[in-house]
Amino acid sequence: MNPLNERFILSNGVKIPKVGLGTWQIPNDQVVQVCLDAFEVGYRHIDSANGYQNEQGVGQAIKQSGLKRDELFITSKLPSHIKGYQVTLDSFNETMNNLQLDVLDLYLIHAPWPWSEIGKDCTQGNIDSFKAMIELYHQGRIRSIGVSNFSVKDLKAVIEATGFVPHVNQIRFYISDTQDDIVKFCQEHNILVEAYSPLATGRILSNPQLQKIAYEKGVSVAQVCVKYCLEKGTLPLPKTTKRERMIENARLDFTLSDDEVHKLDQITL
Ligand SMILES: NC(=O)c1ccc[n+]([C@@H]2O[C@H](COP(=O)([O-])OP(=O)(O)OC[C@H]3O[C@@H](n4cnc5c(N)ncnc54)[C@H](OP(=O)(O)O)[C@@H]3O)[C@@H](O)[C@H]2O)c1
Repeated sequence: MNPLNERFILSNGVKIPKVGLGTWQIPNDQVVQVCLDAFEVGYRHIDSANGYQNEQGVGQAIKQSGLKRDELFITSKLPSHIKGYQVTLDSFNETMNNLQLDVLDLYLIHAPWPWSEIGKDCTQGNIDSFKAMIELYHQGRIRSIGVSNFSVKDLKAVIEATGFVPHVNQIRFYISDTQDDIVKFCQEHNILVEAYSPLATGRILSNPQLQKIAYEKGVSVAQVCVKYCLEKGTLPLPKTTKRERMIENARLDFTLSDDEVHKLDQITL
């Protein structure tokens, strides 16, 4: 299996490469070379966000790569504190100027609440932002739209108010933290779950139980973690700045048996 060449199909028929490169915490000046390396080893899917302050670098890498636009799948996100119709349109324009793109492949509401006020009820603001995104989607400026860090309650609120089911919900998902209620709801409603922090931002890599399983299979812990996300029907977004790790994280030509998946389900961090 080469997940870089395989695709999930979103509910609107748009195809999305099964593994994407995460870019959180990669500074703008560094992200250009990181993306170019990723493209060279076969990645075609980049996960960025206005909040990562590296959209300009991602855009520069796209230009420099010489790849055709339709070979690439580029995601960005509306900053978590921006809630409302017009401010969403304005922020989207800023994102597109940064990326120097005409059309974005996937645009997400980064979180249901500002990062500085986690848990705050911003239901109306999320609905208004999502309405603006639906408008941009219908205008053809975005090929698919979705949300991130949304609970089942948050999802139900936007679906009920707009009648539009998001194509994607990007959530924290890794071995030991799989947010089963959200995944179940999304899969029942044909919302693709993207697994962010599939390596628990690196914290999972020293887990002795995982190290034992990986060693016995002759693969790395990172590979087990990325493969596990795919086994669960989610789309992993591993982040690395290192070319050899990009290759490693997408070299998934091994299987996890039901027994092994069951063992992985029991692991706690
Ligand atoms: N929507 C959201 O709110 C949200 C939140 C968090 C993350 N995300 C997205 O998900 C992406 C991934 O999540 P994440 O950044 O938290 O981290 P992650 O992918 O879970 O882990 C990244 C860490 O693991 C290291 N690493 C990667 N591959 C490795 C390998 N093969 N062997 C050893 N170490 C390895 C990286 O170091 P090096 O870089 O030094 O290799 C880095 O320290 C983000 O970049 C972002 O795009 C979204």
